[in-house]
Amino acid sequence: MSKIIVGVVGAGTMGSGIAQVAAQNGHKVVLVDLNPNVLNIAKASHIKVLNRLVEKGVCSQTSCSDILGRINYSSDFKDLKQAKLVIEAIVEDISVKNKVFKQLESIVSEDCILASNTSSLSIASIGSVLDFSSRIIGIHFFNPAPLMPLVEVIPSIQTSSEVLDLAFNLIKDWGKLAVITKDTPGFIVNRVARPFYGEALRIYEEGIADFATIDWAMTEIGGFKMGPFTLMDYIGNDVNYAVTESVFSAFYYDPRFKPSFTQKRHTEAGFLGRKSGRGYYDYNKDLPEPIKDLKLGGEIVQRILAMLINEAFDALFMNVATREDIETAMTKGVNYPKGLFQWADEIGLSNVFDVLNRLFLEYGEDRYRPNPLLKRSI
Ligand code: NAI
Repeated sequence: MSKIIVGVVGAGTMGSGIAQVAAQNGHKVVLVDLNPNVLNIAKASHIKVLNRLVEKGVCSQTSCSDILGRINYSSDFKDLKQAKLVIEAIVEDISVKNKVFKQLESIVSEDCILASNTSSLSIASIGSVLDFSSRIIGIHFFNPAPLMPLVEVIPSIQTSSEVLDLAFNLIKDWGKLAVITKDTPGFIVNRVARPFYGEALRIYEEGIADFATIDWAMTEIGGFKMGPFTLMDYIGNDVNYAVTESVFSAFYYDPRFKPSFTQKRHTEAGFLGRKSGRGYYDYNKDLPEPIKDLKLGGEIVQRILAMLINEAFDALFMNVATREDIETAMTKGVNYPKGLFQWADEIGLSNVFDVLNRLFLEYGEDRYRPNPLLKRSI
């Protein structure tokens, strides 16, 4: 059976990566962007990446040329006519996305699946403009799409079970680890990971430790690949702050997700991170030394980890995803050294509960309320 034609709309960071993944898996791909410059950049980057694969001996010159030959770079939406799956990866703006989905439906056939790579918008709202809304689905890749193994597949309340099956199996066929998540804010990863940033910022704001010490604790004691402040500087404070704010408002201002003034001020000041030369750290200077106090570091890790585990339990409690999929999402989407449920078992659930409960009683803030499922599981 011949492979379906895959359309990708938006040839920026994500769209160009997704197009590469589909082409590497034997699909003809139509990559559409309104900006011809972006298409040229995407093509140049595909050529560069594929040449590197040839140099490394990962693929032959012929098969790399074939991959490139399968991608049609276009600024005309009509070229998507034959596609059976279109993945949208344009700007994160619901009114622009709605316009594009309406336009897509007027071009493609009735059996074409329409997917969005959105990180923060609801799939239900994106699909609401469609006449055949059972074809809408979220297919959320991680950056860089060709390298990151995780993909969150998000059926909305409109999505048919056939569309879910087709999309899920296709993503698995592409060699990705597909997890299924409910159409709720942040899906799995961007929801469960919030305390990694938020609680680190809170610890800093309370004056318990500085950025370097918190980062040291999380990497050296916690075993995370990167500390929260180093990571936020990589992601960009503007981008990370926007996700936090969007998750906070989407959760009807649940204090668990409250953004931080420290991050807001850094963003406002233009201290965006690596890309602006300065974020929490000044990259033109030597990085500050942490205070390597094992007791302090241990308390920092314990607190952030307890909050992450609480969030993982909440996602399970609210049926956002299965326990296995939450473990996969956090280890493969953000490279956590262990699944949070496994980690909780190792620490002991009653110990995790005690940390949260102590914070809850001391601060009297809803932010620290232990999840009922965590409590029940002890
Ligand atoms: P980007 O800004 O790099 O690329 C967006 C592209 O869409 C641009 O090239 C722009 O010319 C094009 N575009 C805008 N309006 C268009 C239209 N009406 N028709 C055709 N093309 C149009 O953005 P990025 O980072 O690739 O994000 C795209 C989507 O992926 C967003 O929904 C974002 O939330 C999501 N996402 C981003 C991740 C990231 O790390 N950057 C990770 C996962 C999801």
